[in-house]
Amino acid sequence: MSHADDHEGTRRDFLYYATAGAGAVTAGAAIWPLVNQMNPSADVRALSSIRVDISGVSEGSQLTVQWLGKPVFIRRRTAEEIEEANGVPMSDLPDPIARNANLDDTAEATDANRALDDTGEWLVMMGVCTHLGCVPLGEAGDYNGWFCPCHGSHYDTAGRIRRGPAPTNLLVPVAEFADESTLVLG
Ligand code: FES
Repeated sequence: MSHADDHEGTRRDFLYYATAGAGAVTAGAAIWPLVNQMNPSADVRALSSIRVDISGVSEGSQLTVQWLGKPVFIRRRTAEEIEEANGVPMSDLPDPIARNANLDDTAEATDANRALDDTGEWLVMMGVCTHLGCVPLGEAGDYNGWFCPCHGSHYDTAGRIRRGPAPTNLLVPVAEFADESTLVLG
């Protein structure tokens, strides 16, 4: 289920109406016919910022959308997941940097520096393994977060690399809330 909103032919703003699970895949796929008709510079302009409806994402589930040709994971975490992430000492992290495009390069990889909102409920990350680019699986791996089956990278519930060949935490893209049910990426 998806809808791309074409504002008088400018195609600058896309609004995704996506629900968790299979619907999200459709949202990503549905955009391609439009994109393919545009020249590269128009592609980049049109997709550099997208709005995502997150009203259908329930606690403990994840929405995956396509942005700039890559998957983005939008997870609404449970209290347990947040607590687990907060309980990890910084010294246990192979990559101590937040890798959050909304913060500066030296910000520490605390859970608060990775999550989008103050409660820590929303975690938004590129769904691209930082080793060689596979798409990690959610709610998997030894740390209850994400697991990349390509070469065995385990990420925790904050998307931080804990074990395996991935050199860095999953990247957090530029993102913000437009309102309580709409997220803007880019
Ligand atoms: S690409 Fe993910 S572990 Fe190698």
